[in-house]
Amino acid sequence: MKVAIIGGGPAGLYSAILLKKQRPEAEITVYERNRADDTFGFGVVFSDATLDNFEKYDPPSYRRITEEFAYWDDIAVHFRGTMHRVGGNGFCGCSRRKLLLILQERARELGVTLMFETEIADEARFANADLIVVADGINSRFREKHIAHFQPDVDLRSNIFAWMGSTRPLDAFTFIFQETEWGPFIAHAYQYEAGRSTWIFETDPETFERAGLAGLDEKQSADRMAGIFGWFLQGHPILTNRSTWRNFPMIRNQRWVKGNMVLLGDAKASAHFSIGSGTKLAMEDAIALADAMHRAPTVAAALEQYEQGRREEVEKTQHAADVSLVWFEHVDRFWDFDPVQFAFGVMTRAKAITYDNLTLRAPDFVREVDKAFAKQVRARGFDVDVEKPLAPMFQPFRLREMTLANRAVVSPMCMYSAKDGMPQDFHLVHYGSRALGGAGLIFTEMVCVGRDARITPGCAGLWNDGQQVAWRRIVEFVHANSAAKICLQLGHAGRKGATRLMWDGMDRPLEEGGWDLISASPIPYFPDSRMPREMDRAGMDAVRSEFVAAAERGRACGFDMLELHCAHGYLLASFISPLTNTRTDAYGGSLTNRLRYPLEVFEALRAVWPSHQPMSVRISATDWAEGGLTGDDAVAVARAFAEAGVDLVDVSTGQTVRDSRPVYGRMFQTPFSDQVRNEARVATMCVGNITTADQANTILAAGRADLVALGRPHLIDPGFTLKAAAWYGAEGVFCPVQYLPGKDQIFRNSVRDRQDFEELKIKAKPKTRAELKAEAAKPLAAE
Ligand SMILES: Cc1cc2nc3c(=O)[nH]c(=O)nc-3n(C[C@H](O)[C@H](O)[C@H](O)COP(=O)(O)OP(=O)(O)OC[C@H]3O[C@@H](n4cnc5c(N)ncnc54)[C@H](O)[C@@H]3O)c2cc1C
Ligand SMILES: Cc1cc2nc3c(=O)[nH]c(=O)nc-3n(C[C@H](O)[C@H](O)[C@H](O)COP(=O)(O)O)c2cc1C
Repeated sequence: MKVAIIGGGPAGLYSAILLKKQRPEAEITVYERNRADDTFGFGVVFSDATLDNFEKYDPPSYRRITEEFAYWDDIAVHFRGTMHRVGGNGFCGCSRRKLLLILQERARELGVTLMFETEIADEARFANADLIVVADGINSRFREKHIAHFQPDVDLRSNIFAWMGSTRPLDAFTFIFQETEWGPFIAHAYQYEAGRSTWIFETDPETFERAGLAGLDEKQSADRMAGIFGWFLQGHPILTNRSTWRNFPMIRNQRWVKGNMVLLGDAKASAHFSIGSGTKLAMEDAIALADAMHRAPTVAAALEQYEQGRREEVEKTQHAADVSLVWFEHVDRFWDFDPVQFAFGVMTRAKAITYDNLTLRAPDFVREVDKAFAKQVRARGFDVDVEKPLAPMFQPFRLREMTLANRAVVSPMCMYSAKDGMPQDFHLVHYGSRALGGAGLIFTEMVCVGRDARITPGCAGLWNDGQQVAWRRIVEFVHANSAAKICLQLGHAGRKGATRLMWDGMDRPLEEGGWDLISASPIPYFPDSRMPREMDRAGMDAVRSEFVAAAERGRACGFDMLELHCAHGYLLASFISPLTNTRTDAYGGSLTNRLRYPLEVFEALRAVWPSHQPMSVRISATDWAEGGLTGDDAVAVARAFAEAGVDLVDVSTGQTVRDSRPVYGRMFQTPFSDQVRNEARVATMCVGNITTADQANTILAAGRADLVALGRPHLIDPGFTLKAAAWYGAEGVFCPVQYLPGKDQIFRNSVRDRQDFEELKIKAKPKTRAELKAEAAKPLAAE
């Protein structure tokens, strides 16, 4: 077998090693345009998990790599004169140059041919190769050459960065967030060998411009960075090596394989430096390729297996990197945060590290985070314990004169079980049991303002006296038997009306018994959905009056709060999104125009809703579709509603158009809540695939939302909040007197369960290499 490898970086060299081990008879050649020891960059980082992989696949190179490595366990965050340090991270750093030399040496030992100073311009010279590995890095010539086939997406990010180095020793992965006269600068720094550390400097384009960095050469840039971070460098110099300023390209490819050519490493997919995974991804690609070559009967089958088997893992890492880079791009959002909350945000930005996870490894740090959170709550007039604070989820919250005992919310969820809009016994039991379960706030499902405002024939309404009596009974039950507050969500289905019950075909048109639909514009949801009529002014007046009448009924029912549903493609949302609003009158065109009618309805409701009671609006912060609403639009929408008197923005996303492409994942809508809260400076509730109290605490403690709504988790577990309270020892949580023996038991057991859990976690966690090294260095105790 003949294998040609273009590029002698980590991906190219490691794949050469693994393939040669597998097929000693194969003729494997690596072509590298640079000289053997001519490499850019300073250090590379690997996690313990990645090193475990290296140990398994090639012990000799693993041993040499780890002999050369610097280990650290802590992450240190410097911000506004403070430093917070968190252990248990288990990372290693090594010089990129040394890594490449080790890999070159190992490849040679195995019989791989290394051709340096050989630039490949055309793959035609490898016509007789069985396999061509394209590992030519981030600016891959071959990816670009076959652009129509690989279909790369190169997203050039806005922040500007440069890799530099220093002789400053560091004993932790160090983030420094530095205010300057031009704006914020960030340093990501870590030691990779004795007396050498990597320093990546990053800033936003405006600060870059103001600091005049565009006109400076490498040396001048380094001097400028040494000036900014001089207080930390303790006289150590900043070093350069092709350290030019650039924008990070996020690279993805639709296809990774073309015939017998396969993309590896940065050529195929890049991951932002802030999660330190570029070299890891490159070398793990090599592992995945070698595995596939080992398993599959032919090269073609192996390449197919490689792409299929590896894609999800790469995309997961890229997603984490994306989330992380976006955090750094928007660091200004958090600039006025309490430093410990800021540091918590840095630690938890990419979702892998959470509140509970940090509690295990850095309990003092989390205690400080809890204290800072409790202090903010106290500053708002609550008499909460700051010295022994409760977890953020169990801190109270106030909107106007409505006080919530905790921050867990039952998200609005249609039960499709009403008859003629009339709530049934099912609704009383459903809402009642969730209130007994301890959540601070319960939302009703979307309650429709008229018969024709319903989504399905099973949707609940509030347009007649009978419905009012039924809702009043539910509200009274909640108030009489729990500490929960209850919010009425009012909505109109618009073009998504006259559809089947969820379990008969979500959003599919009714086969019979439908009704006329209205929308901002006459665009059906599905091609075979009923065509909606474009609303005229008279229709707008009529619907606004329906909303007002329903709100007045809601007030009479005793609801504590009112939400206007402007999300998910329903009537008011159809005005806001440019994908569903193609009007040419005063209600279409600009965002201001598109918001005109939803705001008019909101203002009419605000006028009749008691001024001491809060109102929220649910929005789709993005349509997840080309040409649709984005997070930036959501900030503008939130600002407009806030000016009109909204107290809370309930940040959901999507469901506007059929062909949207949401990026699902844990807590997937939280970044939008974060953006709205910290840019528009309005209270937010986040929702969406938040399944644990740990996640809720992570979101709240990081200041990414004020309330956390859980939908589906509450469907199967009405007692979600009570159970979480037991776990976090929040004794004061409401529990019905009838259930107190159950509360006593779960609180008692939870203490032990939690101890067992923590011990298990600690036992199950293998020692990090840093810990092992520290242990080995300790003198033996005298016998
Ligand atoms: C300026 C810069 C500095 C960096 N510094 C660091 C760092 O300090 N630490 C870190 O962890 N990561 C660093 N990275 C990121 C890291 O290099 C990559 O994520 C990782 O090296 C990817 O490995 P790779 O093998 O896919 O690509 P690369 O390491 O980029 O290797 C690709 C190789 O292909 C060669 N090549 C390209 N085209 C041809 C051709 N036509 N013919 C022959 N050879 C060719 C290149 O010379 C290069 O050696 C840096 C990236 C850049 C752009
Ligand atoms: C059965 C069901 C019904 C829903 N009905 C509504 C609704 O009436 N109004 C609304 O705004 N959202 C509705 N949603 C969306 C939820 O409020 C929530 O945003 C969504 O389920 C994501 O949260 P989760 O991942 O915690 O379930 C519904 C969700 C489900 C699962």
